[in-house]
Amino acid sequence: MTFKLDYSGMFVKILIVNCFIKVYGCQMNAADSSLLSGILAGAGITETLSEKDAESVVVLTCSVRQHAEDRAKGFARTMRGEGKKVVVAGCMAQLRGDSLIREGVADYVAGPDQYRMIPSFIKEQEMQARNPDFDELETYSDLLPSFKNSVSESLAIMRGCNNYCSYCVVPYARGPERSVPYQSIERRIRRFLDCGAKEVFLLGQNVLAYGDAGKRFIDLLERLSGLSGLERIGFLTSHPRDLDKETVRRMAAIPNLLHFFHLPLQSASDKVLSLMNRGYTMADYEERVAWVRETFEKPYITTDILVGFPGETQEDFQYTLDAIERIGFDFAYMFAYSERPGTRACEMSAKVSQEERQERLCVLIEHANAIARKKASCLVGSEEEIFITAPAPRGDGAMLAGLRNHRSIVFKQKARPGERLRARIVRLEGFTLLAEPLTKEVV
Ligand code: 5AD
Ligand code: SF4
Repeated sequence: MTFKLDYSGMFVKILIVNCFIKVYGCQMNAADSSLLSGILAGAGITETLSEKDAESVVVLTCSVRQHAEDRAKGFARTMRGEGKKVVVAGCMAQLRGDSLIREGVADYVAGPDQYRMIPSFIKEQEMQARNPDFDELETYSDLLPSFKNSVSESLAIMRGCNNYCSYCVVPYARGPERSVPYQSIERRIRRFLDCGAKEVFLLGQNVLAYGDAGKRFIDLLERLSGLSGLERIGFLTSHPRDLDKETVRRMAAIPNLLHFFHLPLQSASDKVLSLMNRGYTMADYEERVAWVRETFEKPYITTDILVGFPGETQEDFQYTLDAIERIGFDFAYMFAYSERPGTRACEMSAKVSQEERQERLCVLIEHANAIARKKASCLVGSEEEIFITAPAPRGDGAMLAGLRNHRSIVFKQKARPGERLRARIVRLEGFTLLAEPLTKEVV
């Protein structure tokens, strides 16, 4: 909104700008949106809760699959059609650059290393005609992200990725891997704790690659876990290749660490894993899961599976189905392979047809969900420590809570976010475990 006031013959221009942030994609983008909220607030831009009331919109985009790009483009076009100023930010902005402006999708583009420029785009203090660049030094480590004011907060400890899995666009979209300096992580977590958080998740494309001033990820985890007031600490994602036995052994000695391991498998065929450039075999992967299972009593082990990768035969796909059953994942995120221009897999032959990819995905989902349900049902009747996080969306006074291993459940009684209680798991409804109070006593 622009007000022009005529004051003593002079024009005084007061700019009041507001902005809505729309987020697509992964946890890293969700964490980036908190960073962006902080950047906007610091520049005097008011964030709106809905796009309806906004004059400008920042779309934080994801390019990992074509579908994610299509959705973000559709939303950005609609917003421009309503006369709003649109900044397309994040992965798609980096990859597609100013072609998005030419196509009428965006007024401005800002890659994952240009979030600091967004306020000047919104205020039109800066015009832009070039594609975003990477800034290998940018970790936003001087900024404090805005707080969700929740008992559970997340923080990116790394940016970028150097792994170049052959199907994945992330290294091209988010740039080279870099670690946020240790001091900055600690400072920000202290702020979260001061503001009422009790649980913190450390995020990165591969947190096991963390390194700052000779400190590796496990050193960071050990130091942070000792911060006063931090009751639960978790992390994601870990590249299975980089998990070693010594790290798992040291993790076991961290009393407030969540027993949660998200270890993306992608495929259980050694041939496909090699084509994907994953850096491990199926035997390596199963060895790592065995370390976790022998170290932690009830770990929550989740994964990502990608089907229909070039060269994946029916036999390779069957290996994946068998492995899911053998390993017994608690949950799997499942995807059909999507060609990403510029990646090595895009040039590979022996493409699996789109129909076959979708068919395999349907079979996979049914199979993995049946196993996940079976795993969940084993918990019915057990007594667990639970951590209350927020009101459950079902709106009947029930609360969402996390188990000691981060598995989410619904607690059928009103409780305060941040409370730790003992509860009994009484039922499985669909994929949701329901728990009832045991005692009101804090653990
Ligand atoms: N097509 C489909 N899924 C993909 N992922 C990454 N790239 C692609 C792609 N080109 C999946 C992987 C990764 C998750 C975040 O997204 O499973 O672990
Ligand atoms: Fe993509 Fe592989 Fe990096 Fe994950 S580790 S972001 S799948 S390149």
